[in-house]
Amino acid sequence: MQNDLLIRAAFSQPTERPPVWIMRQAGRFMKEYWDIKNRYSFLEMCKTPEIAADVTMLPVDLLGVDAAILFSDILVTAEAMGGQLSFEQGVGPQFANPVRNRADAETLRTDVVDKLQYVGDAIQVIRQRLQGRIPLIGFAGAPFTVLSYLVEGGSSKDFKRTKLLLHNEPELAHFILQKIADVTVDYLNLQIAAGINALQLFDSWALALSWDDYKTFAHHYNTYIFSKLNRAGVPVISFCKGSSVFAPLMAEAKPNVVSVDWNADLRHVKDSLPHGVAVQGNLDPFVLYADKKVIREKILHLFERMRGQDGFIFNLGHGIMPDIPFDNVKYAIEVVKEFRF
Ligand code: CP3
Repeated sequence: MQNDLLIRAAFSQPTERPPVWIMRQAGRFMKEYWDIKNRYSFLEMCKTPEIAADVTMLPVDLLGVDAAILFSDILVTAEAMGGQLSFEQGVGPQFANPVRNRADAETLRTDVVDKLQYVGDAIQVIRQRLQGRIPLIGFAGAPFTVLSYLVEGGSSKDFKRTKLLLHNEPELAHFILQKIADVTVDYLNLQIAAGINALQLFDSWALALSWDDYKTFAHHYNTYIFSKLNRAGVPVISFCKGSSVFAPLMAEAKPNVVSVDWNADLRHVKDSLPHGVAVQGNLDPFVLYADKKVIREKILHLFERMRGQDGFIFNLGHGIMPDIPFDNVKYAIEVVKEFRF
C-alpha cells in the first residue's frame, strides 16, 4: 500500500504525521454528493456497488484523506434481519415494523449474510478504484445502537422505549442483542474476506447508558464481536459517543483503536489506556464552522498535546455536519498534513 499511515497508527507503530480521515466524509457537505443523491434513493446508492464506489471515492479525490470509508449505513444489518427500513429526507432512518415484543424478536433472522453480499461487491469495486493508494475502512453498527433503532423505529432523543426494554425485559433485550451480534460478526468477516483494510464499530448512542448498563448491554456484545473477527492485519476501531467516560471499558474489549469524542482531553485518554491501544479523534466538529485561523489553532493545539505519541489518528469526535463549508474541511486536512511529529 502506498500510504499506510492509518494502518501503522492503528497498530501503534511510528508515523511521520498523524493520518487523517473524517467520520461521515462520504456525504452531504459535498456538492458532488448531491449530484449523485438527487438521482437515487439512499438505499439504492448503498446497494449498487458502482454508485457506492463513486461516493466512497469523492473525499479521496476531493479532500486527499489518508483513508476511504465504505459508503453504506450501520442499519443495513437490521434491514437484512427483516427490518423494513426507509430513509426519508429530513426524518432519517425509519423501521416500519419496530421490534417491541418477543413475537417481533422471533421474526428477526440471523442467516442473512448472503443478503449483504452487495457490500462485499462494493468493496471489490472500491479496491480496484483505489489501486492500493490508501486503506479502505469498513464498518458496522454495534448491537446496542442498532437495537435502539429497531426498538424505537427510528432516531430517538431519549431512547425511552429501548431503556424500558433493557430494564423491564432484560432477557428479551439479550435475545435480540445476541442475534444482532451474530449477524454483525458474519457481516464484518464478509467485509474482511472482500479485502477491507480496517474496521470501525459504531456504538453511536451508547452514551445514553449508565456505566453498569453499558457493561451489560453494550460492552459485552462489542467484546464478543471483536473476539470473533478474523482480525490478522486488519485493525479494529471502537467508536462511541460517550467514550470520554467509557474509554477504559472500550479498551477492555480489545480493539486496536478507541475513537474519542471531543469532551475529553485526548492525551489524558491515551495516557489512561493500556500500552498499545491507539486513539482516534477528537476535534469538535463544530470547530469546522469557524474561521480558518481558529480551525488551524485548534488542530495545532490538539497536535501539541499528542506530540511524540505513536498510535494517534486525527478525526472529529463525531460525524461531520452536512452544512459545514467544504473549503473549511479541505483546509483542516491540509493543516493536518503539514504537521510533523
Ligand atoms: O462515514 C461515511 O461517510 C460513510 C458512510 C456512513 C453513513 N452512515 C452514510 C449516511 C456511515 C459510516 C454511517 C454510519 C451511521 N449511520 C451511524 C453511525 C455514525 C454516527 O454518526 O454516529 C448512524 C447512527 C447511522 C444512522 C443514520 N443513517 C442516521 C441517523 C441517518 C440520518 C440522519 C442524518 O445524519 O442525516 C442516516 C442516513 C445517512 N447515512 C446519510 C448518509 C450519507 C444521509 C442520507 C441522505 O439523506 O443523503
